[in-house]
Amino acid sequence: MKLLVTGCAGFIGFNYIKYTLKNINHKIFGIDKMTYAANPEIKDIHDDNFKFLQLDINNSKIKNIIDDFNPDYIINFAAETHVDNSFQKPNEFLINNVQGVLNLLNFINPKIKFIQISTDEVYGESEHPKAETDRLLPSNPYAVSKSSADLYVQSYRKTHNIKAYILRLTNNFGPYQNKEKLIPKYINALVENEKFPLYNKGEHYRTWLHTKETCYYINQLIEKNLEPGIYNLTSENTIKNIDLLKLIHETLSKKINLNYDFFEYFDYKNERIYHDFRYKMNDDKLRSIIKYNRRNFAEELEETVDFYLKKWESK
Ligand SMILES: NC(=O)c1ccc[n+]([C@@H]2O[C@H](COP(=O)([O-])OP(=O)(O)OC[C@H]3O[C@@H](n4cnc5c(N)ncnc54)[C@H](O)[C@@H]3O)[C@@H](O)[C@H]2O)c1
Repeated sequence: MKLLVTGCAGFIGFNYIKYTLKNINHKIFGIDKMTYAANPEIKDIHDDNFKFLQLDINNSKIKNIIDDFNPDYIINFAAETHVDNSFQKPNEFLINNVQGVLNLLNFINPKIKFIQISTDEVYGESEHPKAETDRLLPSNPYAVSKSSADLYVQSYRKTHNIKAYILRLTNNFGPYQNKEKLIPKYINALVENEKFPLYNKGEHYRTWLHTKETCYYINQLIEKNLEPGIYNLTSENTIKNIDLLKLIHETLSKKINLNYDFFEYFDYKNERIYHDFRYKMNDDKLRSIIKYNRRNFAEELEETVDFYLKKWESK
């Protein structure tokens, strides 16, 4: 199978490339604009099955790449992803997350299948599990841009007969995530003995899914040739932010000397009203077709802590 993977140097994209090259014999053409969020190690991957090009998905050269490489699938991870930044630079989110997707859609043909990586944030905050058929109620510029992209993908399925999938993910965690995101940011603060900014007293809930599981589901979706459409993918690891941080603090304190007690590390910040309290999805549609042997959350988290400790130690 030939895969064109866009946004391949970002957190999930990079994990996906490594996971797929290790486990499956697909030929992969990776593309990334290489923003601040990209992992430069993508250029160090030397594998006969992998080719990388630094390119924006908005660039018209995408057409030549699609025509020449003639992929079976395009998997689009490319996006601006930090919610806080989406308030400062909403236009960047429109250009990369919406216009970029439209550019890809305009260059593909019905022989190429398209997988758009989307998010639970498109449903907005909710106490009730959202199904794929529920309406979109995004509440920040990032979520609006992802929702808009989903709508374009949906419409191109109908009007251009594109075989498209929209995979809506809950929060991912695992190796190679940018330090701006909660888990590596907190581990880094503890390691560096720095105060960690805590918003809303850590009362918000998030649901965590290991990237390995995400990569497995993407490849199974391809292998099993699922019916095009929307698929939610979430997990049972729902936890209050403060409890997650406590778990990380406990895990790390067994490995290195931490100077302060848990609560002393925080720089308490005011409420961020734009942060959704909780997202909730129902993913029975996907999980009834594809099973996964779930691992223990605390173990996955410990493995993640170990990864960052080792990585930062070697610098
Ligand atoms: N990380 C999560 O928890 C999570 C949860 C739900 C959905 N998602 C979605 O999954 C996808 C990947 O997320 P991530 O966490 O890996 O993001 P990330 O911010 O770590 O990486 C995004 C990558 O996209 C690249 N990129 C941005 N604009 C581009 C453009 N115009 N052309 C080419 N490359 C471009 C960046 O350089 C970067 O390498 C995103 O679409 C995101 O919305 C992520």
